[in-house]
Amino acid sequence: MDGLREKYLSEIAAAKDEAALESVRLAALGKKGEISLAMQGLRDMEPEARKAAGAALNVVRDEVQSALAAAKSALADAALAERLKTEWLDVTLPPRPAPVGTIHPVSQVTEEVTAIFAELGFAVEEGPHIETDWHNFDALNIPAEHPTRTEMDTFYMARAEGDDRPPHVLRTHTSPVQIRGMLKHGAPARFICPGRVYRADYDITHTPMFHQLEGLAIDRDVSMANLKWCLEEFCRAFFEVEGVELRFRASHFPFTEPSAEVDIRCSWTGGQLRIGEGDGWLEILGSGMIHPNVLRAGGIDPELWQGFAFGMGIDRLAMLKYGIPDLRAFFDSDLRWLRHYGFAALDAPTAHGGLGA
Ligand code: DAH
Repeated sequence: MDGLREKYLSEIAAAKDEAALESVRLAALGKKGEISLAMQGLRDMEPEARKAAGAALNVVRDEVQSALAAAKSALADAALAERLKTEWLDVTLPPRPAPVGTIHPVSQVTEEVTAIFAELGFAVEEGPHIETDWHNFDALNIPAEHPTRTEMDTFYMARAEGDDRPPHVLRTHTSPVQIRGMLKHGAPARFICPGRVYRADYDITHTPMFHQLEGLAIDRDVSMANLKWCLEEFCRAFFEVEGVELRFRASHFPFTEPSAEVDIRCSWTGGQLRIGEGDGWLEILGSGMIHPNVLRAGGIDPELWQGFAFGMGIDRLAMLKYGIPDLRAFFDSDLRWLRHYGFAALDAPTAHGGLGA
C-alpha cells in the first residue's frame, strides 16, 4: 500500500501538464489502473483480511484522488497566469490616431469633369474592363491587321484550350463604351464614359492601368464647330482660366474622320505650368467626327445621324491641373502622398461652386 501511495503521489507531483496528469490518473485509477485492480483483488481474500486491506486501500485511493484534483487545479491556475501575462493590456495608454484619408486626385478630377459635362447635357455611361475584341477594336473601325492593335500594347485574356474564338482583352481605351452606349440608347445621344483602361507600359508617364474619359454627341446636324465649342467650354471650366486657347491639329484615328488632336496654350517658367499664356502647346486630347463605320457598328444610320467624339487622359488632366510630377505615385497608395495631393472628403466639386474651391 505504501509503495502504491509513494509511487503515485510522486508521479502526480512530477506531471508538467494536464495530459501527463491524465495518464497518471489512468495508470492508478482507470479501469485497468493499478489501484482499481488491487481493489478487485480484495474479492478473493478472507473476510477479515479483506476488511483491513480494503480500508487501507480506500485511504490510498482517496489520497491519490485528491492529489490529482489539487494538481489539476494548480496546472489550470498556472496556465491562466501565463495567458494573462501575454494578454496584458495597458488601459492608460493614449489611443493611436486613426489614419486620415483624403479624396484621390483621380476621383476628384473625374468628379470635376463629370460635373462640367453634366452642365453641358452629357449623361454618364459605363462599360466592362474586360472587353470583347470586337468592342475594343473591330466596332471602332480597327480591323485585325490594323497597326493600332499592336501599338496599344494590349493585355489579352487567356482562352480555354481548343477555344479559337478571339480572346477578350483588358480594354485599352474607353472608346468601346461609345459602341455600348450607342447600342443601348440609339440616336440622338450625348454621354461621357470615364473609367480605367489598361496597356502593357510602365515609365514616368505610363502605368499599366490608367484612366480615360471618352465623350460623344450624336444628332442630325452636329459638326466640328460644336466639338470645338464644347471642348473650349470644358477647358475653360476645368482649368478655371478665362482665356484658355485651344489649337486643333489634323491627326488620324481609325474611329474618327476627320480627326484632330487638341493642344492647349501654356507656359513653363521655373518648372511651373501656366495654362492660357506663353508660347508652349501641350497636347491634351484626341477627337473628331465619328466614322460612319463606327456609327453603323453602334446600330445608328450614318445617312441620318452624325456626331463628334473625344478622348482624354484623366490622370494627365490631374497632373496638369494640380502640378503632380510623377504618374506612378498615383497608384502607390502612399498615405503621405495622398495627404499632400488629396482633397477634403466633403467638398464635392460643382461647376457653379468653382470646381477647385
Ligand atoms: N481612344 C483614343 C486613345 O486611347 C483616344 C481618342 C481619340 C478617343 C480620338 C476618341 C477620339 O473618341 O475621337 O488614344
